[in-house]
Amino acid sequence: MSNNRVSRRQFLNYTLTGVGGFMAAGMLTPMIRFAIDPVLQHKGAGDFLPTSQKVAELTDTPVKVSFSFEQVDAWYKSEVSAMAWVYKEGDKVIALSPVCKHLGCTVGWEGSPSHKNEFFCACHAGRYTKDGGNIEGTPPQGPLDQYEVEEKDGLLYLGPIIPNTLVKK
Ligand code: FES
Repeated sequence: MSNNRVSRRQFLNYTLTGVGGFMAAGMLTPMIRFAIDPVLQHKGAGDFLPTSQKVAELTDTPVKVSFSFEQVDAWYKSEVSAMAWVYKEGDKVIALSPVCKHLGCTVGWEGSPSHKNEFFCACHAGRYTKDGGNIEGTPPQGPLDQYEVEEKDGLLYLGPIIPNTLVKK
């Protein structure tokens, strides 16, 4: 008979160490993955989203440009629809976010018959100049945000939303 018998104490030690290590790895792996997730994300061409708007057809009157993109929340993917107000100032393309800086309603170009040549928010009568500047005396406390823009093959691409660069402070 062999003398290499494992005592009950050793057996319990090995078993508990193995099970404990397995459980610790199961808990730590998702935490580490979550912590370094931004590093693992693929960046690049996806930063600008294509629209069907031809840049050559833009004028100095803002038009509504709709676009959609895929949004991933953990394991859930969904198609999100969004829009921008886009016009040209000379050769420069301007794309403004339609999200009102008061409480987030959607603003419309000339949305009020009594306020021509302005963006209007019907929720609380917020008003903005064409460059997105909030008009004093109305609820919004800041200008409309802007989209970064790019032209590819004659089509408008919209990038990240940035603070308004057109309004003088
Ligand atoms: S949400 Fe636009 S004015 Fe209030």
